[in-house]
Amino acid sequence: MGQQLVDEKNIAILGAGAVGQLIYQQLLTDGNAPLLIARENERQQRVTFTALDGEVTESTAILASPKSVSPLLEQVRLLIVCVKAYQVCDALNSIIDKLSPKCHILLLHNGMGPHLEVPALLHGQGLSLGTTSQAALKHERWHIEQTGSGSTQLGHLTGPRLSQELRTRLLSAIPNSQWCEPILPSLWHKLAINAAINPLTAIHDCCNGKLAEEQYRQQISVVVSELIEVASADGIELDKSALINRVYEVIGLTAANFSSMHQDVLNKRKTEIESINGFVVQRAQHHNLTVNENLSLLEQVKNMESDYLK
Ligand code: PAF
Repeated sequence: MGQQLVDEKNIAILGAGAVGQLIYQQLLTDGNAPLLIARENERQQRVTFTALDGEVTESTAILASPKSVSPLLEQVRLLIVCVKAYQVCDALNSIIDKLSPKCHILLLHNGMGPHLEVPALLHGQGLSLGTTSQAALKHERWHIEQTGSGSTQLGHLTGPRLSQELRTRLLSAIPNSQWCEPILPSLWHKLAINAAINPLTAIHDCCNGKLAEEQYRQQISVVVSELIEVASADGIELDKSALINRVYEVIGLTAANFSSMHQDVLNKRKTEIESINGFVVQRAQHHNLTVNENLSLLEQVKNMESDYLK
């Protein structure tokens, strides 16, 4: 009939920041290159990747922009959204009309919140969520370096399920990744780590390892306790001692690193505080709970931001 058959494995990545480019590189290794959807105009783009072992590789990515790629977008069967939490709804809105109802959406960002709004934006597409503790650094616009291994949890949230073929492809391409159902406990778990570490390192202008000191112990304990109470009101039960142990494990493993929020404040960028401690505060308000420590951290970081953001 002259009509090109759609490859049911077509993957696109929306957002070509450090995590978007890292997932792109990992999916490249199994042959079928994903489409990269970024702000830039549609073109072929040389991308450089420095792996954990220092090996540098170059490849050519097909870059697409939300404005100009509707024929390509129609063929995408998995869209991995790798923008910041506060950009997810706008980014999805800019392309959702061009996506097939057969396309599955996977949100992969720090913090929580968009999963409550995104279902209303979808046109029949299924939705999965993910969290990753893999770390990558952007050296230049098209050169990233993987700086931390870490694990990745992915799982279904709502609507039609991701095909078995694409799920297998994702799990085999992303090292140390698991399919978890239900997925929300994994996201709350990661949220607790970020809620304890990120604002304190930004406020006290310190590396993650500093938070192992006794002076921060009580505050970290309260942040995590408040979060556990809110998660429980949201139907997610978390174990406090396991969570506190994990927070200190991450502090130890990343002792010399500066958290992403510390770097955002240092570079005068908008932080992810609204979708980390801000999400805890928002859900607490929803359930008529008080979370003073999370609220105080939210306000302190918002105050720092307002000093440098217009
Ligand atoms: O956001 C970050 O910086 C990281 O998720 C973490 C785990 C806090 C380590 O720095």
